Amino acid sequence: MSNVLIEERAHGARILTLNRPEARNAFSRALVDELRAAVAASTQARLVVLTGAGDKAFCAGADLKERRGMSTEETRRFLDDLNALMNEVAALPALTLAAINGAAFGGGCELALACDLRAAVPDAQIGLTEVTLGIIPGAGGTQRLARLVGPSRAKELIALGRRLGAADALAIGLLSDVGDPLAWAERLAAQLANTAPLAVAAAKRAIDEGAHLPIAEGLAVERRWYETTLGTEDRREGLRAFAEKRPPVFRGR
Ligand code: COA
Repeated sequence: MSNVLIEERAHGARILTLNRPEARNAFSRALVDELRAAVAASTQARLVVLTGAGDKAFCAGADLKERRGMSTEETRRFLDDLNALMNEVAALPALTLAAINGAAFGGGCELALACDLRAAVPDAQIGLTEVTLGIIPGAGGTQRLARLVGPSRAKELIALGRRLGAADALAIGLLSDVGDPLAWAERLAAQLANTAPLAVAAAKRAIDEGAHLPIAEGLAVERRWYETTLGTEDRREGLRAFAEKRPPVFRGR
């Protein structure tokens, strides 16, 4: 186990903790590499929680000190790796939760946006602040934020580099819950235990793939993913358990 990332099982979930509190958990190259490896090893989990060490920051974005020493070409490569990380998080079959324990700016906010769900502590601050540094979000922020909260709100937040408080982020649907994110994760994990893993993964895919298609094409996407559940043992188990009036035991097959 590395020291910049802590991997553990707790609260019924696989928890990945960005562990550079002295740099507000900013993304160094080493942290991006470690996180990508940990995400690749998370395909069997039911719930993957991403969080940050300490009580100040979830992640303060790219490591701006490391960035100063990078050539333009190195910056491009870093951006490619950061994008790959976000896409790998978004593609996980498990439900993913950003447990935002403090500031989530720039790439930290983009990591949260790549997750399925976001929950934060009451004093968290969230924002895509890149324009205040002369750049724009480069790891999916312009696309994922606009899809989540709509283009007009995304333009307002991104063009002004706004830092939103948790209550405001909750009000626009950027967060699902404000309070104790790890306690929320524990409740989610308990609820997920009653669901079939392949069905959850298929539902996630159907939603992601269909979100920006015309409705007829989206419905065809849903049908394709429905088909993937038809031949599963878990579907048969669901029907059997219903008939036998007992809770189902799903095996992810
Ligand atoms: N990259 C590298 N180091 C960072 C960092 C980043 N993105 N964000 C914070 N740090 C470092 C600070 O330089 C400081 O280091 P030092 O002790 O060597 O001076 C240390 O983390 C603590 O930062 P500080 O600002 O004192 O902590 P804070 O708790 O008062 O505030 C933040 C935390 C996240 C609100 C604040 O650090 C911040 O706004 N960071 C920049 C966020 C940003 O613009 N990200 C990039 C978006 S593209």
